[in-house]
Amino acid sequence: MTTVDLPLLPLGRGVDLTSERGVECPGDLPPASDPALVERARAAKDTLGERVFVLGHHYQRDEVIQFADVTGDSFKLARDAAGRPEAEYIVFCGVHFMAESADILTGPHQKVVLPDLSAGCSMADMAVLSQVEDAWDALAEAGVQDAVVPVTYMNSSADIKAFCGRNGGIVCTSSNAEMALEWAFDQKAHLDGGGKVLFFPDQHLGRNTAVLKMGLTLDDCVVWDPQKPNGGLTTQQLADATMILWKGHCSVHGRFTPEVVDKLRATVPGIQILVHPECTHEVVLKADLVGSTEFIIKTIEAAPAGSSWAIGTELNLVKRLANDHPDKNIVFLEKNVCYCSTMNRIDLPHLVWALESLVKGMVVNQIDVDDETERHALVALQRMLDLPGKSHRD
Ligand code: 13P
Ligand code: SF4
Repeated sequence: MTTVDLPLLPLGRGVDLTSERGVECPGDLPPASDPALVERARAAKDTLGERVFVLGHHYQRDEVIQFADVTGDSFKLARDAAGRPEAEYIVFCGVHFMAESADILTGPHQKVVLPDLSAGCSMADMAVLSQVEDAWDALAEAGVQDAVVPVTYMNSSADIKAFCGRNGGIVCTSSNAEMALEWAFDQKAHLDGGGKVLFFPDQHLGRNTAVLKMGLTLDDCVVWDPQKPNGGLTTQQLADATMILWKGHCSVHGRFTPEVVDKLRATVPGIQILVHPECTHEVVLKADLVGSTEFIIKTIEAAPAGSSWAIGTELNLVKRLANDHPDKNIVFLEKNVCYCSTMNRIDLPHLVWALESLVKGMVVNQIDVDDETERHALVALQRMLDLPGKSHRD
């Protein structure tokens, strides 16, 4: 087994252009203190007009989100990117895997720009292609590979999505994981004893969906540890399992704890707990509602004035919801600050630099997935986009 790739390499300069990991952001950025940044961003956007389409993920900073033509969760943004063939430039204010997906879903005449290339995702880095291929080979050796459908969370690199495309698998997001799992199990419904899913990189989304939405038990799930020989599992465990969960997680959502949920319930009468499915199973079990960032926003919008909510997701979004709904009592489900550091790397100086460069005819920080990877990744992404519409609760 070749598990030489270390996840979570330090983010910084000149590390690895082909992965989610941090890389150098070349170019002279305007200083963050420049009071004219807002005007400069507006002017550059106005000059570019319809040629540019700016997408903003819900975890982006306010200073950036104000310039987004559309905001959304990762599923909605993938759909929105695919729905704008006339835009020459897609400026993606989000993280690397989202920009890659936008590049795959847009036409060859369109260029996708990520304002800071070091905006990666530590969870996406927890499954690298060589590790996934090792796991796939091990499943063959265990005699179970024919029963397995690979399902990757959107939060994965393009080559992992391509792996799924090549091997009969699918991509899912936090808003359609249940439908994607149903699709995956349907592919093997003809087999005696049904099929299995290899789910990566987020064990929590996989477990929460399997147990709370699909009616599987915790005993039906095993965790594949890419750092251990044979994933740390016996052939019998692989044969018995229905869900093989990759040992990956989100460092932001992993911080929420059941203890804080208990404390809030004890101190704030009627408080409702609303969390993202990347939270641990223990936290999700104690929550009232679970869903994607888009689901979280729609839930708060529909909530009655005076209602109380503790939200377990990234802090930029929770702060924005609290500011936008002063008639509701909205708190963060954690005492400590909990931003996604890589999402936060997209700031106004980087956005201004990217937009002004486009005005000058220079495409900076282009995300360009190679044709072969793109072809196979598109198969898995398209299977997701073809899932029945009710999978996305918007
Ligand atoms: P959504 O799929 O809800 O947009 O979440 C993406 C993400 O990165 C959550 O950590
Ligand atoms: Fe990745 Fe977590 Fe940040 Fe989402 S919040 S981009 S999963 S590190």
